[in-house]
Amino acid sequence: MKIVLKSPLDMHLHLRDGDMLESIARCSSRYFAGAIVMPNLVMPVTSIDEVISYKKRVLKAIGDDKFEPYMTLFFKSDYRYNFLKEAKEYIKAIKLYPSGITTNSEGGVSSFEIDDLRETLEAMSELNIPLLVHGETNGFVMDREKEFSSFYEKIALTFPKLKIVMEHITDKNSVELLNRHDNLYATITLHHLLITLDDVAGGLLRPHLFCKPIAKRYEDREALQKVALNGHPKVMFGSDSAPHPRDKKESCGCAAGIFSAPVALSALCELFEKNDKLENLQKFISDNAIKIYGIKPIKKEIVLEKKEFLVPQKYGNVVPMFAGEKLSWSSYESTSS
Ligand code: NCD
Ligand code: ZN
Repeated sequence: MKIVLKSPLDMHLHLRDGDMLESIARCSSRYFAGAIVMPNLVMPVTSIDEVISYKKRVLKAIGDDKFEPYMTLFFKSDYRYNFLKEAKEYIKAIKLYPSGITTNSEGGVSSFEIDDLRETLEAMSELNIPLLVHGETNGFVMDREKEFSSFYEKIALTFPKLKIVMEHITDKNSVELLNRHDNLYATITLHHLLITLDDVAGGLLRPHLFCKPIAKRYEDREALQKVALNGHPKVMFGSDSAPHPRDKKESCGCAAGIFSAPVALSALCELFEKNDKLENLQKFISDNAIKIYGIKPIKKEIVLEKKEFLVPQKYGNVVPMFAGEKLSWSSYESTSS
């Protein structure tokens, strides 16, 4: 049995830089036609020159794979209209991180007063640049996303023309928010569709499943699965694949991030098949994102074949999700694409 996916897109991806970029970029560019590339490098991407040179390094790392990196800027509240007007040519979105909430986010936002953000958000709204948000407060870890929802509502109402993407949503409250405001959209990861906190910490601690936001309860996973599996038009796939070297994961003070890029399509296929929803995978993996972002991705066909895929233990020095396990679908680029 085979199915063909047209131009799969990963709308939330960490490609890193330097040796790490070189060793993992193809895990995405082989299977996807494009990806929204996150700007949280050790020195966040905040200028047009940095966007241009980072994109060059990404393109070098993917070699001749057909793959478009959609670049982003790291949100600063002092970006002004003229700067953004020029930047718009080089970026697809701007990513807002609350300060210190996750990997390399120290330079993020510390005031969530609308007046402190107004000028930049107004300019983004006028220029039609989507705002991508890591939506967590620094409250109790299981409630962080829920506590953040009042901010989502505030910006959605204050800037009704601004497209706001709630990145990697993890709880049922965020799913409900989607239907409450026309300008709110969401990405959902593979891991949040598959795991709960039980898988991370219910038995022996599994550091390779530790990420931000942390996986939540069964009812949250169910709500996420429902919208993804039904191809809800405001929901897109974003892997949040976030590689860290093995020694940074298997250590005391484990880094947050799950490396899922090389297994994403196979595992998604398995999930959609199991739920008898394969007909909606194309929407979740590409069509919805094309409409929401108004993009025309590179034409690329990826074949998913019902054939065992034994997931490698490591890619370079990074341990992938499902390391050493067998998945029931294999993926490869169609020779006719
Ligand atoms: C991401 C990373 O490592 O860059 N980590 C993660 O746990 N998801 C950052 C992020 O998206 O929060
Ligand atoms: Zn991320």
